Amino acid sequence: MNEKDFIPLPYTKTLENGCFTWSAPSNIALVKYWGKTGIQIPANPSISFTLDACKTITTLAFEKKENSGKYSFDFLFEGQPKESFHPKIEKFFDVIQQYVPFIKNYHFTIDSRNTFPHSSGIASSASGMAALAMCLMSLERELNPEMTHVHFYRKASFLARLGSGSACRSVKGEMVVWGEHDEITGSSDLFGVEFDGEVAHIFKNYQDTILLVDKGEKQVSSTVGHGLMNGHPFAQQRFTQAHANLSKLKKALAEGDINAFIEVVESEALTLHAMMMTSLPYFILMKPNTLEIINKIWQYRQKTGVPVCFTLDAGANVHVLYPQQYASEVLEFIKAELLVYCQNNQYICDQIGKGAENL
Ligand code: DP6
Repeated sequence: MNEKDFIPLPYTKTLENGCFTWSAPSNIALVKYWGKTGIQIPANPSISFTLDACKTITTLAFEKKENSGKYSFDFLFEGQPKESFHPKIEKFFDVIQQYVPFIKNYHFTIDSRNTFPHSSGIASSASGMAALAMCLMSLERELNPEMTHVHFYRKASFLARLGSGSACRSVKGEMVVWGEHDEITGSSDLFGVEFDGEVAHIFKNYQDTILLVDKGEKQVSSTVGHGLMNGHPFAQQRFTQAHANLSKLKKALAEGDINAFIEVVESEALTLHAMMMTSLPYFILMKPNTLEIINKIWQYRQKTGVPVCFTLDAGANVHVLYPQQYASEVLEFIKAELLVYCQNNQYICDQIGKGAENL
């Protein structure tokens, strides 16, 4: 498939007004996307767990305009107008309008809220862009009712990617691969696909407890960080390694090899931050408490044999990952030994979810 496959045929129906509401979850990458070209064409394939509790819920209300020409919108966050979000949405609409030409005929009111605390350091761009993309696709499906289910979700992921790369992994499926990879049939740089490999029982309902280490604004945004992979001295090795790690992870998932899973996931998290530390300019997003937590997790795993591990996103928070069967003892460990390293003892219990939902 290529980009042209997402330019719609002439619309066969019209719609004056209405609204759609979708929720879309956040996701946590196991093999990381770090480095891109163009508009979110990833430099390497990535794979993520879709989350369940951390979501954005977006209502898109639309009203046909007398004079079509350019889209227009109001944006509300938790019911209140939020001007500061306008540039991001405007940029998104500008990029997607060739694929969703109907947008110029409408005035939109976008009302969005997150289930996780605002400024918790949890990126809302993935869930936010995915929820908005779902709403836009619901509208396009009304205009072109013959659209297939497969195309609906694929194009939603494609649009979400144009808003924020990792958002394309927040649309559908418990595990999603984005980026071409030899061993993943149908994988594409343009959209995420549900991981269709075998997944052993131990990885079902995997738990993710997110420890909120630092809720402050990041000093370096992901978009800037991706840019610093251009001309990075270790970039090519890193991109090659990501392909190899995805192969290793696929095998570990199929064989239920949790030690191999842990090795890939923790190595990916540390490599992501190693890339940041070796960029020019270099930067560090981990905090001292991030490292305290990592060391405690290693000690606990060594002492008890409980297969708990960590991953990180582009920030100081730690995602603690473990099989459901160990949930009670790991939560006890987290409460007793890790919460002291969190801002105001804050954490979020999450687990693997299925993707966006029409509400
Ligand atoms: C570290 O998707 O937030 O979380 O495409 O520029 O919007 P843009 O970046 P974004 O990058 C996410 C980076 C990451 C790793 C990952 O999710 O794979």
